[in-house]
Amino acid sequence: MTDTLRLPVEKVYEAELKALAKADDGQKPPGWALSPQSVVTYLLGGKAGKTEISAKYVGSRRLIETAVATLATDRALLLLGVPGTAKSWVSEHMSAAICGDSTRIIQCTAGTDETQVRYGWNYAQLLAKGPSRDALVPTPLYKAMEEGSLCRLEELTRMGSDVQDTLITVLSEKMMPIPELNDAVYATRGFNVIATANDRDKGVNDLSAALKRRFNVVVLPLPDDIDSEILIVTKRVNEMAQSLDLPVPKNAAEEINRVITMFRELRSGETLDGKTALKSPSGSLSTAEAIAVMVGGLSHSAFFSDGSFNAENLAPTVVGAVVKDPVQDKAVLAEYLETVLKKRRDYADYYAELSGMV
Ligand SMILES: Nc1ncnc2c1ncn2[C@@H]1O[C@H](COP(=O)(O)OP(=O)(O)O)[C@@H](O)[C@H]1O
Ligand SMILES: [Mg+2]
Repeated sequence: MTDTLRLPVEKVYEAELKALAKADDGQKPPGWALSPQSVVTYLLGGKAGKTEISAKYVGSRRLIETAVATLATDRALLLLGVPGTAKSWVSEHMSAAICGDSTRIIQCTAGTDETQVRYGWNYAQLLAKGPSRDALVPTPLYKAMEEGSLCRLEELTRMGSDVQDTLITVLSEKMMPIPELNDAVYATRGFNVIATANDRDKGVNDLSAALKRRFNVVVLPLPDDIDSEILIVTKRVNEMAQSLDLPVPKNAAEEINRVITMFRELRSGETLDGKTALKSPSGSLSTAEAIAVMVGGLSHSAFFSDGSFNAENLAPTVVGAVVKDPVQDKAVLAEYLETVLKKRRDYADYYAELSGMV
């Protein structure tokens, strides 16, 4: 175990990536470390020779194939979806598998300006020697173009439309002009962009039609059945427990099942049996939030209780996930407690804990 809190995934899954490269006899697009088939196997799990490849993403094969196929063309990839649908996760793993480097990343915010997307200047050098390549400070996008690797743009729609549009030349002409030097960077083969954006955010800056045309959009959905959602959460809880050096509680399976049942019912606006209609809270209540609730419970159960998950230590984080709007969501939760949980004998502990908090 290293002291680094979180290594890039190409380091964590180095052995799997090596095994895939070794067993790979498919055709590789220029600049790719693996064939598209092997990239899909890396993401969805399978075998490479004798090595077991773990599943990173649980969901539709078609979606992942479309995403990977897009990156082998001259179009960029935009992963769209509500928060917590594994957009960043898929983007990171795809970059790791395709070019062996997931760290070329730009986090787009309302404050992101052109110099963070194109290039900036080292002013000391600029004043001393005038504009030159040495004085130019490359961005991750610039470096990805030079190296022929992937650049990740996180939350693309959070940055201003004018800044977004600086990407148009890069994506359509595969070059970035540097007017100050009367020069340009030309992208090396293998360069492409994976952007993520979420469609639930307030203050999004919609992509211009010109930019949208350069992207293929793949929408990542919330898991459609409860079993795959339980699988995802269980997998991540086990991985987090390992990386935090905490034991996995004995009753993890049962508690994950109960928390996800509540999340899915609230999210979909009806009970799992479809008999009772409910109101949904304002937040997205995604799988990622269920993971956060369970991981929060991990350390609580290890340090402050008998090593098992229980309603008492999970309830506060459940409330935190559900109640995003203090007035409206509290009413939604209170109604759910009274109309649904109160009648379920196996949820008596959650009913008691949650009722005390709303
Ligand atoms: N379908 C899925 N398969 C695997 N992991 C998932 C899935 N959906 C959500 N997750 C988990 O959710 C967590 C958060 O995802 P993230 O990529 O940060 O969401 P987003 O960028 O869409 O807001 C990740 O740790 C990931 O493991
Ligand atoms: Mg994200």
